Amino acid sequence: MKGFPIVFAFIIYITSQSLASPAVKNNVRVFRSNSYMTHYYTIDPSQMETWITSMQGQSQGDTALVFGTLQPLTTPVFAVHNSDADFIYTTSSDEVNTLVAEGWVDLGIYWYAFTAQVCDSVPLYVVDNPTMTDHLYATNSTERDVAISSQGYVDEGIAMYVLPLSD
Ligand SMILES: *[C@@H]1O[C@H](CO)[C@@H](O)[C@H](O)[C@H]1NC(C)=O
Repeated sequence: MKGFPIVFAFIIYITSQSLASPAVKNNVRVFRSNSYMTHYYTIDPSQMETWITSMQGQSQGDTALVFGTLQPLTTPVFAVHNSDADFIYTTSSDEVNTLVAEGWVDLGIYWYAFTAQVCDSVPLYVVDNPTMTDHLYATNSTERDVAISSQGYVDEGIAMYVLPLSD
């Protein structure tokens, strides 16, 4: 709610709470593949199984809660991947178009999330390891800091806002 005038924030909160209640929140699951040095995120169990099999990955559990359908204040999150098994998740269709022009494969809409910190959401941080060609997403800032300080990742800021697992 930071940055919004009090009255405006209050209206957003009430509206989103009442409209969001019937919405199904989905767990974003993550797997890590040591063979391909990559992280892959999805809310779809069958997609997860497919990629785990093809990339010899193993599940690392849940990262956050997001929506499987468009909800008030949410926006589509697109996934793209390249031939180095690097996966990027973005709310920017311009970024998707730029990456596709560079040869990345458009995987379409993967889930819906917020582009601002509304409705009790938290930042989903993104870091990039250009050597391993891997993007890592985390709501845990300590996990992000460790990736930057000791695993060769570069800070790329906040990718989107999601709901914490304890929500
Ligand atoms: C955040 O990440 C750190 C480092 O991986 C871990 O020790 C800690 O338990 C995590 N915190 C939560 C709330 O998951």
